[in-house]
Amino acid sequence: MDTAENKHAGGEEALNHLNHAAPRMLAYNSSIDKKKLALNLEKKKKHDHFGVLVSAKNFHSLAEQKPHFRTKKLIQVNQKVARFHLYFFCVSSIDIDNQLIKGVYYDFSDSTWKTGFFPYPDFLYRRGGIGKKSKRRYRKFTQQCKKKRIYLLNPSSLGNWDVYHYFQSISSLKKHLQETVLYQYPDDLYDMVDKHRIVYLKGLTGRKAKNVIRIELGLDDRYRYRYYNAAQKKVETIVFKTKEDMIPYVQHFYKGKKFMIQKAIDLLEIDNRRIDLRAELQRNANGSISICGISARLGKSKSPVTTHADAMTLDELFKYLKLTTAEKEKLWIKIETFLSKVYRATENKFGTFAEMGIDFALDEDYNIKFIECNSQSAKVSLCKAHGDKALEQSLINVLLYAKSLQRQRLKKKSS
Ligand SMILES: Nc1ncnc2c1ncn2[C@@H]1O[C@H](COP(=O)(O)OP(=O)(O)O)[C@@H](O)[C@H]1O
Ligand SMILES: [Mg+2]
Repeated sequence: MDTAENKHAGGEEALNHLNHAAPRMLAYNSSIDKKKLALNLEKKKKHDHFGVLVSAKNFHSLAEQKPHFRTKKLIQVNQKVARFHLYFFCVSSIDIDNQLIKGVYYDFSDSTWKTGFFPYPDFLYRRGGIGKKSKRRYRKFTQQCKKKRIYLLNPSSLGNWDVYHYFQSISSLKKHLQETVLYQYPDDLYDMVDKHRIVYLKGLTGRKAKNVIRIELGLDDRYRYRYYNAAQKKVETIVFKTKEDMIPYVQHFYKGKKFMIQKAIDLLEIDNRRIDLRAELQRNANGSISICGISARLGKSKSPVTTHADAMTLDELFKYLKLTTAEKEKLWIKIETFLSKVYRATENKFGTFAEMGIDFALDEDYNIKFIECNSQSAKVSLCKAHGDKALEQSLINVLLYAKSLQRQRLKKKSS
């Protein structure tokens, strides 16, 4: 913990006192005792348990007193505005049979992270990848959560093709979409490159542009194949004489996983740097959708993607573009309408989300183009462009939205 954190924590009431006893109670190992404990903990709940599912790596970092700064913010904000029983766990720390969770929580009384046993939460907030080996276990857990009517704050992943394919059936969103097909045979790629000259290949899942390749058919009739190599932090370029030569590379890149082919968006550029946008939206305390911040991401020069780069606010971008006040206002309204449509359409198919990160772009004529939806945004660009306060507000929104759901449940129960 850093000094600032300790200062903040000083003198705070120990929120999780209930759980201090839990680890001691669990000195025994028999499954009967665990079942009893789970039932006991379940009975004491007041719809106030907020479980954050993190990766195994992050779970162990917390137990070692090394929280990510976003996690620190979450516990501070929770302490200030929501006072949920807040704990962090990973898939392997769930006892599926007994419906009991080994979690890590922050004890404000002595400013340390501690391990304890918890019942299944009332709110589940997913913040981290599920490893291949844990997929079955995770599926079982979410089935149990649905049965128990636990609120899933980000109920599902938003696979690229699932979302794109679905949006293609919505007339008001069609104009924001680029032609996209699922790759099945090499001919699919050849046809798209012949037709559009520049295309993007995109994995059905993935983040940080790790599964993205840009292919451009140049005026010299060569194919330029580019991707961002995250491990080496540089753009890799391979030039092919024929389209057939590309196929083994593409196949090697996706290792048998499905991917889609998409017409390139003619992205806005400043000084040869491509620009796209990330909007962070949340449901707030009254349950309505609000925009927490829109950030413009500036790719590195020649990079096929804008990830891993600088960010500025949308207003700063508008200033750069020298838009008049009237133009700015018009574009703001267009963007807000688009974002609201995307959020609602996604919810219609995938369930209610407490928050969503939406990637989109403006082309050279300021038309809005959809890129993807994210159910677990790391909010990196939000922090870069809008600062820590915006991150804090995004966490407040999620917690207060959960609070409003809790109030509804308690009211229903008492009536
Ligand atoms: N059709 C496209 N045209 C132009 N650039 C694109 C296109 N699709 C993706 N990109 C670029 O690649 C980046 C990563 O793509 P995205 O679909 O958001 O994948 P990830 O899930 O890895 O973030 C985008 O932020 C954008 O800069
Ligand atoms: Mg993205």
